[in-house]
Amino acid sequence: MASSSTTSPTGAAPVYSDTVIRGFALMSVVYGIVGMLVGVIIAAQLTWPELNLGISWLTYGRLRPLHTNAVIFAFGGCALFATSYHVVQRTCQTRLFMPGLAMFTFIGWNLVILLAVITLPLGITSGKEYAELEWPIDILIAVVWVAYAIVFFGTVGIRKIRHIYVANWFFGAFILAVALLHIVNSAAIPVSLTKSYSAYAGVQDAMVQWWYGHNAVGFFLTAGFLGMMYYYIPKQAGRPVYSYRLSIVHFWALIFTYMWAGPHHLHYTALPDWAQSVGMIFSLVLLAPSWGGMINGIMTLSGAWHKLRDDPILKFLIVSLSFYGMSTFEGPMMSIKTVNALSHYTDWTVGHVHSGALGWVGMISIGSLYHLIPRMFGREKMHSTKAIELHFWVATIGIVLYIAAMWIAGVMQGLMWRAVNPDGTLVYSFVESVKATYPFYVIRLGGGVLYLSGMLIMAWNVFMTVKGGKVVQQRVPMVAAHA
Ligand code: HEM
Ligand code: HEM
Repeated sequence: MASSSTTSPTGAAPVYSDTVIRGFALMSVVYGIVGMLVGVIIAAQLTWPELNLGISWLTYGRLRPLHTNAVIFAFGGCALFATSYHVVQRTCQTRLFMPGLAMFTFIGWNLVILLAVITLPLGITSGKEYAELEWPIDILIAVVWVAYAIVFFGTVGIRKIRHIYVANWFFGAFILAVALLHIVNSAAIPVSLTKSYSAYAGVQDAMVQWWYGHNAVGFFLTAGFLGMMYYYIPKQAGRPVYSYRLSIVHFWALIFTYMWAGPHHLHYTALPDWAQSVGMIFSLVLLAPSWGGMINGIMTLSGAWHKLRDDPILKFLIVSLSFYGMSTFEGPMMSIKTVNALSHYTDWTVGHVHSGALGWVGMISIGSLYHLIPRMFGREKMHSTKAIELHFWVATIGIVLYIAAMWIAGVMQGLMWRAVNPDGTLVYSFVESVKATYPFYVIRLGGGVLYLSGMLIMAWNVFMTVKGGKVVQQRVPMVAAHA
């Protein structure tokens, strides 16, 4: 591996820009709790609708987008900012390019979140799922994102080692793709400060929206988190990545395939049939790179499996991959048109979403933050390892309750809706399927409460770690070695 040495003009090695990482890491924990609390509230509202208390801004339709935005963009987004800034500096052995601009991304992103928290409950929305924020906030997002790209790619540009470690490829693809998706899908004609209409119409609008929506899954909820996987699993396990060659194949295959799979969200709609079939085929192909990546992550532990026994951080990281494997097996199956005919509109989709969201996105973020936070605050490890272990089990049981309840409810709903008598009339009325779903909504709520409790344990542990530690300025190594 090519390497070179670095000396600053003063002779002392520069320090890494870690303040912004500390900020994003702590905010990720805070937003995780807020977003999941809203998730628990809407899960309770689905069970007992009167819980909206007759107040318009507490209604399900307004809190649901608040939940999805808070968990994806605030919790997940802050975890991605924190880890990408950490990984890119350590693997490029240089400090952030334009640290002031990095601080701007921190302030700007938090401002976006604040505006979302205000506008969504007020019912100000573009009506596009995962892209609900209105046009002035969309512009702010685009500005922050361009600044993020400048900081990230600028840092890669001033790296002190020739090689660009694979985690940075994934983070880089996530940053570029999200910029493209956001700008294209948010194109709109404003009619007032708080209302705009999409620049697209009819089925084109639907196709652009789900090209965005699916790639939000592929790049926001997957590629960036794979960047975490490729850095934090080897670090925590103390082993090199199982196959570096496979990681490169994984990268190119994944980013190429994801782009074409969006139409699986529009089966049996006005979208031309051939486009639906293209979406289905690419979704099936997607199984291969997804599982290639999962295997690469899990096999990184080969020869060190025993570490799983007493390292709960590693448990979070590795179990996240099992859920990744599960949801990326389930997704291709659900994209088969005949299977989708049963699953679409049912809670099966919600089960699939949360096996990816709680299992994959949640657990890989939590594991990475447990690795990162003590190091950023001058501590060797988190305040309590026992609390991490407890968090792991509470979260895992919570996920299993959540997704098993949704799978059973979803398949049951699909079967009830399509059941017909010999004379062609429906066997069940819709409300009968709602009544049959009730117990599963209660179980899902229980699972959600457990998962949220895990986050509260984490918040306590993080607080104790930060309180007792002292910030140390980590210096960029003078002689860069392979990261
Ligand atoms: C305590 C944890 C959580 C609970 C209780 C919870 C609960 C819920 C509920 C009740 C819904 C609405 C389902 C419906 O419309 O029928 C929902 C939707 C959603 N949640 Fe969560 N959630 C949690 C955590 C998360 C996390 C961590 C993420 C992402 C990282 C996430 C992503 C989503 C998404 C994307 C949807 C929309 C699903 C769709 O449109 O099919 N959730 N959640
Ligand atoms: C190989 C990978 C995957 C494929 C092929 C896939 C496929 C699918 C399919 C077919 C649907 C149902 C569409 C519908 O009937 O409306 C769906 C929904 C969804 N999936 Fe996946 N999935 C994959 C991985 C994931 C992962 C890892 C996550 C989360 C981290 C995820 C998040 C979602 C979300 C949020 C939705 C709901 C979208 C909505 O209707 O609001 N998917 N996926």
